[in-house]
Amino acid sequence: MNYNFDQMIERRNTASYKWDQVERLFGDPAILPMWVADMDFAAPPSVLEAIKKRVDHGVLGYTIRPQSYYDAIMGWLKRRHDWKIEQEWITTSPGVVTALSMLVDLLTQPGDKVIIQTPVYPPFYDVVNKNNRTLIQNPLLLEDRYYSMDFAALEEQMMDPETKLMLLCNPHNPVGRVWRREELIQLGDLALKHGVFIISDEIHCDWIYPGYQHIPFASLSEEFALNSITCIAPTKTFNLAGIQTSTVIIADPSRRKEYNDRLSTLSLHLESCFGLIAVEAAFNEGDEWLDELIEYVRSNLEYLTDFIGQYLPKIDVIKPEGTYLVWLDFRKLGLNSTQLKELMYQQAKVAFNEGSSFGKNGEGFLRVNLACPRAILIEGLDRLKKALTP
Ligand SMILES: Cc1ncc(COP(=O)(O)O)c(C=O)c1O
Repeated sequence: MNYNFDQMIERRNTASYKWDQVERLFGDPAILPMWVADMDFAAPPSVLEAIKKRVDHGVLGYTIRPQSYYDAIMGWLKRRHDWKIEQEWITTSPGVVTALSMLVDLLTQPGDKVIIQTPVYPPFYDVVNKNNRTLIQNPLLLEDRYYSMDFAALEEQMMDPETKLMLLCNPHNPVGRVWRREELIQLGDLALKHGVFIISDEIHCDWIYPGYQHIPFASLSEEFALNSITCIAPTKTFNLAGIQTSTVIIADPSRRKEYNDRLSTLSLHLESCFGLIAVEAAFNEGDEWLDELIEYVRSNLEYLTDFIGQYLPKIDVIKPEGTYLVWLDFRKLGLNSTQLKELMYQQAKVAFNEGSSFGKNGEGFLRVNLACPRAILIEGLDRLKKALTP
C-alpha cells in the first residue's frame, strides 16, 4: 500500500457539510457522521500537488479548458471504461445535480412525465418536482437482498405518450447495483421503442468492486448514445466535491447546442481554475490511488458484513457491486421510522442516511458511508451494537 487510508483527518471546523452540521441537523454534537457521500480521506497527492502549484503561481483568473483537459477525460473513459468518445461530445456543469436539473428543464415541458427508479438519490425527486414535471416512480424489485429493474412496469410507464424522460442511476445509489449489459440493453431498447430519452447519471462509475464492470449506457450503441446524455465527475471518484466540476457527455449535436446555450445564458460555461487542475491531475494520475482506495473500502465492507453477521444478524446487508455506500435493511427489527431514527441518533449516536429520504420503499433502511478510515467504521458499528444489545 502506497497510501495511508487509516490516517484520521480532523474535518470539523472546515465548513464540512458532513461534519460541521451534526448538531444543527441531528441535535447532538456527539453524533458520528457517516452519511453524505463524500469521503474522510485526503484527495490523491497528485491532485493536491497540482493545486498547490497552481496556487503558487498566484494569479487565479478566468479559466478556459485547454486540449489537455479534454485529453484527460477521454483518456480516463477509454482506459477505465473502454469507452471512446468524441471530444466535441464533452461539455460541463459545476455539479451533476445542476446538470440534471438543467436537462430536465431543457428536454421536457412542464407537466411531462419523468421516470425515476426508487429508492434513489433524493435530488432525483427534486429535479423533477421542482421543475414542475410529473414524477413517475418505477420501484426497483427486491428479492433475496438483490435489487433488479421492473421491466414490465417500466414498459407500461414508457408507453404513456406523456412520458418523455427517464433518469437512470448507473451504478445505482443507494442500492449499489452496477447495471449489467443485458439490463441496460433491455432498458435502452424500451426507451427507443417508446420515444423516452435517458439521462444516465454515472457519477459512481469509477467505484466498482472486483467481479463487476461498469458499462456506460451510451457506449452500448450509436442509437443509445444519441438517445441519452451521460453525467460523470472526478469529484465523487477522487473526493473533490468541494471543487465543483463535472462532465456532461452529449452525442446529439442539436441537444448539445441547446445545453451549451443554456450554460452560456447562465454564465456557467467557464471552468473553475481548481476544477481544471483537479480534472487533469485526477484523470491522468489517479489510477493507482483509486485502485488502492477501492481495495481499502472493499475491506471496510467486508468488516461491516462480518460484524453485522456476527453481532446484528437481524440487519440484512444489501451487498453493493459498486459505490462506497452500503444499504442496510433494518425491517426485521420491526421499528417504525420514528423509532429507527431514535435508534440511530439518540441511542447509537451515529448519523447514517435515513432510507426514507430515498423514497417510500426506502423506509426501514439506512445507508452507511464506507469511505472512512477503519477506526471510524469500527466506532460507528460498535455504537450501533451497544444500542441494539441491552
Ligand atoms: C447519483 C448521484 N448523482 C449526483 C451526485 C452529486 O453530484 P454533484 O455533487 O456533482 O452535484 C451524487 C452524490 O452523492 C450522487 O450519488
